[in-house]
Amino acid sequence: MRVVIQKDYEKMCAWTAQYIADAINARGGEKFVLGLPTGSTPLGVYRELIRLNKEGKVSFRNVVTFNMDEYVGLPRDHEQSYWYFMWSNFFNHIDIKKENVNILNGMATDLQAECDGYEKRIAQAGGIDLFMGGIGVDGHIAFNEPFSSLTSRTRVKTLTEDTRIVNSRFFDHDVSKVPTTALTVGVGTVTASKEVIILINGHAKARALAAVVEGGVSQSWTCSALQMHPKAIIACDDAACDELKVGTYRYFLDIEREARI
Ligand code: GLP
Repeated sequence: MRVVIQKDYEKMCAWTAQYIADAINARGGEKFVLGLPTGSTPLGVYRELIRLNKEGKVSFRNVVTFNMDEYVGLPRDHEQSYWYFMWSNFFNHIDIKKENVNILNGMATDLQAECDGYEKRIAQAGGIDLFMGGIGVDGHIAFNEPFSSLTSRTRVKTLTEDTRIVNSRFFDHDVSKVPTTALTVGVGTVTASKEVIILINGHAKARALAAVVEGGVSQSWTCSALQMHPKAIIACDDAACDELKVGTYRYFLDIEREARI
């Protein structure tokens, strides 16, 4: 696992956006399949990718996207649906083709069929080349809450009270407005991707970062499954490293010194 430590949030986002742009450009116009998250963390990466796109430094014309998750029961035009989030914060501002965007439908009548179909669409696209994700304070990736199977695939998940409380900041701080279930890709869906980048910033995520990097592979910190991945990167900022051992911190600063911007 690579751990790329940047000084602050802006630098973490700038490095990640450039990494993604370089990966797309390396394809030379061939199809590139990108997995994407929502949340406050990736916003800086989206802003940077939009800038690179507008400056002609990367194009999304041949990029196919799959989003990680979606709340059950929120229509697309609900301001807190992940569909709404992705279009307003990213897709509306880049040159992506509408038909290349894939987002789970949390309003589907048969939710499991929707999830199974999503896995099929990923397979038909040739698998995901690069999955970018964020992380919850409890180490969850997408909506794979603690104790999710590390081989799980796309399915319906019940959200923990903790996650609903954290996410209530987007729902007028009213936990009762936060959906109780979501559709999410599985831990296995993420780790089946050819490459994974997880963004971790700020003091609040320091415990999760330490567990993921220094702890064992465990279903209690679902992101720790990345330790088994051949090409996983944690992109983080200095503040998120507060719980790392000094030796671990120095080790990654040393071997990744050229990645530090
Ligand atoms: C939600 C999303 C995750 C995201 C997490 C952290 O639970 N399902 O994909 O990583 O929130 O969000 P934030 O980046 O806002 O801290």
